[in-house]
Amino acid sequence: MEDILEPPDLKAEAHPSRRFQERLLEDPEDRAAWQGLRVSYDRMAEEWREWTDEQRGYDLPVREGLRRVRPARWAVEICCGTGEATAAVASAVPSVVACDLSLEMLRRRVEVPGVCWVAADVRSLPLGTGRVPLVVSLNGVFNPSEIVRVLRPGGQLLWCTSFRAGTPLYVPPERMHRLLGEGWTAEEGRAGHGEWTLFTAPG
Ligand SMILES: C[S@@+](CC[C@H](N)C(=O)[O-])C[C@H]1O[C@@H](n2cnc3c(N)ncnc32)[C@H](O)[C@@H]1O
Repeated sequence: MEDILEPPDLKAEAHPSRRFQERLLEDPEDRAAWQGLRVSYDRMAEEWREWTDEQRGYDLPVREGLRRVRPARWAVEICCGTGEATAAVASAVPSVVACDLSLEMLRRRVEVPGVCWVAADVRSLPLGTGRVPLVVSLNGVFNPSEIVRVLRPGGQLLWCTSFRAGTPLYVPPERMHRLLGEGWTAEEGRAGHGEWTLFTAPG
């Protein structure tokens, strides 16, 4: 019998999502890589909730990371999928906008009262520049330029993975920190099989 205390082996290093994410960090204009991610998550949508429900402590890094976040009136969750972390975000912040590109994922979402669900691409979020106090993501696609654009001065980004480097879309926190640019601070911790990193934008 599989030991439920062990994280799943997702073959993350060779996973297509890892390769697409790497390509996008090298070249954010790589349209084929964006398309590759889009198609693969659309295909996974049908089984996504069932699979994530089986993973022990899947959203624990989000719950732990949120304990460190400064109070915010609202938050945007990006790459929300079917809402695996959305209840945790909504329990910590009065108002939440949860976004994902995949309508297939959004159609299968868990219902969380008061959350506004939006189909949106992390390449061009439908949000004003410098307005958002807090961005959260669990196992999301990292596109630093758009996060930097929407966060307000001194705003925070809580980036979480469920399985650390065993997560297909994993980007090491030090690398994310460099890509966010000068003046950002970072604090990180582990929870369950995953990790959270709380980045704060320069004020
Ligand atoms: C690994 S899943 C994470 C879903 C959920 N947060 C979780 O942890 O279960 C990655 C999510 O990113 C979404 N995604 C892929 N490309 C995207 C894009 N360009 N813009 C917004 N979301 C995207 C996928 O549809 C998918 O739901």
